[in-house]
Amino acid sequence: MTSLRPLVAGNWKMNGLKSGLSEAQAVREAVSAAQSTCAADVMIAPPATLLMVMAEACRGGKLSFAGQDCHSKASGAHTGDVSAEMLKEAGASAVIAGHSERRADHAETDAVIRAKAEAAHRAGLAAIVCIGETLGERHAGLTLTVVSRQLKGALPDGATAQNTVVAYEPVWAIGTGLTPSIADVAEVHARIRADLTARFGANGTAMRILYGGSVKPDNAKALLSVANVNGALVGGASLKASDFLAILRAYES
Ligand code: PGA
Repeated sequence: MTSLRPLVAGNWKMNGLKSGLSEAQAVREAVSAAQSTCAADVMIAPPATLLMVMAEACRGGKLSFAGQDCHSKASGAHTGDVSAEMLKEAGASAVIAGHSERRADHAETDAVIRAKAEAAHRAGLAAIVCIGETLGERHAGLTLTVVSRQLKGALPDGATAQNTVVAYEPVWAIGTGLTPSIADVAEVHARIRADLTARFGANGTAMRILYGGSVKPDNAKALLSVANVNGALVGGASLKASDFLAILRAYES
């Protein structure tokens, strides 16, 4: 494990009604109870409809919250969108930008994602910027090229170790139960670290790089032990408190 304080973030995607509150509360209680033994920051990105109610229900605990997406503008005529300022007011401390499902479903480009990350910073939120190759790109030997290109395009110049987290999520590993080999994860994370350090200096060295894509209780320890893996972005396995907490145990001392 590296010396950066890891972050484990659960992305609920378009899942969760009010009844899901009890899952968040179970995580909050476990995280509070394990404060002395769990060496990771823990975050949940619920659907926007649950953000405020969840942040209020979990107030005062160590669990923090993120939005799943934001508009680049602070306000205006953008029906259906949510601004970073709104997420901040609802209780978020971060927002995910450029998840591959947003890239695919909403044709988000690196330039759009960069503007969203800038919006996050403007609002005082950390941006969790997602990058990752498709299966076709991996088979074509383009993984490192794609990851470097997305990183360059999607990260704003003002990114620091405090306001930005990078999440490497191979598109083909998301929700499929497939994961890259440990050697492949190590190779990509080393490239991301090298790119970050070259561009941002000490901030790039201290920026957290999460792995995401089919992280489960049974593979978390191996994936999270890889050099330059400073935590996880967890989808499906974050919906059940017991699975999410089992993943967190990879960081128990
Ligand atoms: P998964 O999703 O853990 O369900 O593969 C990860 C993600 O999309 O962040």
